[in-house]
This record gives sequence, structure tokens and C-alpha cells, in this order.
Amino acid sequence: MSRILVTGGAGYIGSHTTVELMQQGYKVTIVDNLSNSNINVLDGIEAIVGQRPDFAQVDCNDQAAMEQVFATYPDIEAVIHFAASKAVGESVEKPLLYYRNNIGSLITLLELMKKHGVRNIVFSSSCTVYGQPDADHLPVGEDAPIQKALSPYGNTKQINEEIIRDEAHADANLQAILLRYFNPIGAHPSALIGELPLGVPQNLLPFVTQTAAGIRKELKVFGDDYNTPDGSCIRDYIYVVDLAKAHVKAVERMLTGKSAEQVEVFNLGTGRGLSVLEIVRTFIEVTGVNLPYQIVGRREGDIEQVWANPKKANDVLGWRADTPTADILASAWKWQCHLADKK
Ligand code: UD1
Repeated sequence: MSRILVTGGAGYIGSHTTVELMQQGYKVTIVDNLSNSNINVLDGIEAIVGQRPDFAQVDCNDQAAMEQVFATYPDIEAVIHFAASKAVGESVEKPLLYYRNNIGSLITLLELMKKHGVRNIVFSSSCTVYGQPDADHLPVGEDAPIQKALSPYGNTKQINEEIIRDEAHADANLQAILLRYFNPIGAHPSALIGELPLGVPQNLLPFVTQTAAGIRKELKVFGDDYNTPDGSCIRDYIYVVDLAKAHVKAVERMLTGKSAEQVEVFNLGTGRGLSVLEIVRTFIEVTGVNLPYQIVGRREGDIEQVWANPKKANDVLGWRADTPTADILASAWKWQCHLADKK
């Protein structure tokens, strides 16, 4: 079976994808510098799969160390590139760090892939490339216009997509799939792996579960005066395990020569938009836990509403994100309780 190099494989989406790949029989080599993840994640993966992925603690920007990884595993057939800095606010404060990390690592990878004859890459992109789509483009299909990024983080996703397109144009051997994720949430049903935010979470779900666990005093709901049915923002929350499975489909598609174009793009979402207040209410219903919250002002830079049209991914990849929201929220809570038990 083919070997897949998973950069950022100790991270949130990377670890769930590693599990799905290994369960399908793929060999996985993870490279991760552990800057925003924990080595114990490998134990979680091993406990679920019954086997440990190969691992190298390497920064993707370190050309020599990455060269070593490609030399050690000559059977790598595809790369899934998750490794990236991803905090929007931090990217505004430290843009050079973000451009260096996120763009430098992709260039290094593409150079080494070419040198070692690895032809296939799956790239972690984001619905952030669409900004706030106009009403005609909701739900958002892959043909919705790309809008100027609102943060250096978002810009690195756009630039990296373009770098891949330019390189594919120059090198007929390169095959790429760009996956634009909506909002990944939840944890593996085993509660052995999940999201591990460092410090105060910036994303909604980890803040919700930490508040329910009593680690945070109350959730702040950023705005209830948007032009949406209940006034709070709308997103497409996708279960991280469903998202992980889409990566296996993407790899399979490339390795079996089914790609219709050299660079393909897929939006990965459920097709269902949920408001912040709907998430809060459903979470309370499903878990029966108290979740203190307060409505506060809008958060700067927030998009009002965005959700996916996942038809292309459904039809072409033969993939669907259909886990019910209640189950997803229950998995997030189970993971939070598991973290508390470990302490
Ligand atoms: C954010 C990033 C996006 C990135 C994604 C990674 C911005 C503007 N966008 O998306 O580029 O790809 O994270 O997962 O930062 N909310 C609250 N209270 C909170 C936290 C969030 O009300 O404490 C609300 C937000 O206003 C938003 C929704 O929850 O409406 C989701 O927020 P979040 O999880 O941060 O994701 P995005 O902002 O959609």
C-alpha cells in the first residue's frame, strides 16, 4: 500500500486524517514540528488504529531535514500538507512569521517532491478565500469569486493555491487537489484524539466546551445584530472525521489517476448553515450541561454568513459530510471530558 507524507499530522485535522488513512491500509509518515501540537497525539492514533505512524519531528521549512525525510521514505506517493500557522489574529500581528512559515514550507515541499519524483499533493485550504460571498453565491460553490484576504493568514491560503497552480502549469507531472474547508469541529468518537488549543481558544467550539467544563467563565457570542434569522453569524460546521475522510478520497482519486484536471478544487462542508446561537442551544440540549453565555459586540473581521455547496465533492469524490450536528457536538464534549480526566 502507498505511503502518504502528512505534514502537520500531529495537529487537529492531520491526526484525524492519519487515523482514516491508516484504517484504509495506507502507510503514513508524519512530519510535525510540534509548535502547536503534542507528541502524545501519536499515542492516541496508535490506540485507535493499533499501529503507530512513522514520525519525524521536523519543521517543513528546514530543507535539509525534509530532504532527509524524503530520502528515508522513498515510497512516499502523495503528500497531504496541513502544517501551517493558523491563528488569524496572530497573523495580523506577525505577518512575516506567517508568510515565512506557510509559504516557505510549501515551496520547500514542492521542490523536494519534484526532486524525489513525488507527484501528488493535497493542500489544506479554507473557505476564507471566498470572504463574504454575495447572495447569488450562497451556498458557496467552487466557482464563487475569490476575494481579497482579510488577514495575512487568509492571504497565505490564497497565495499557496496560486503557487500550486503555477507549479502545476510548469510541471506536467504535478497533480494537486485543493480542499477548501468550512468550519471543522468535533473529535474522534473514541475521544482519544481531538482539538488541543493552546491558551485561550479563538474558535467557537473549543471555547464552548471549555466554558461548559468551567475553564472559562462564559462564552461571548460575537454579535446578534447581523442580517441573519437570529442575528448571530452563520457558518457551515463540518465534523472533523467527515473532513478527514475527504482527504482519503482525494488521495485515492489522484493515486488511481482519476483526476479530471491537474489542479482540482473541492469545497468541504455540509451544505447546512448554522448560527452561533443554534450551536449554543444544540450543545446545551445534547449535553445537558450548563453553558453560560453573553451576547457582546461583533468581532472585527468576522464574515456574516457563509456555508458550502458541497455538490462537487459529493458527486465527484463520492463523499458526504452527513454526521448529525448533535452527534458532532456530543463528540466535542466527550473529548473535553476526556481531557479533564487526564489531568
Ligand atoms: C476562523 C477564521 C478562518 C479560519 C478558521 C479556522 C476569522 C475571521 N476566520 O473562522 O479564517 O480558517 O477560523 O477554523 O477569524 N464566535 C463567538 N464567540 C467565540 C468564538 C467565535 O461568537 O468565542 C463566533 C464567531 O463570531 C463566528 C463563529 O463563532 O461567527 C465561528 O468562529 P470561529 O470558530 O472563530 O471560526 P471563523 O471565524 O468562521
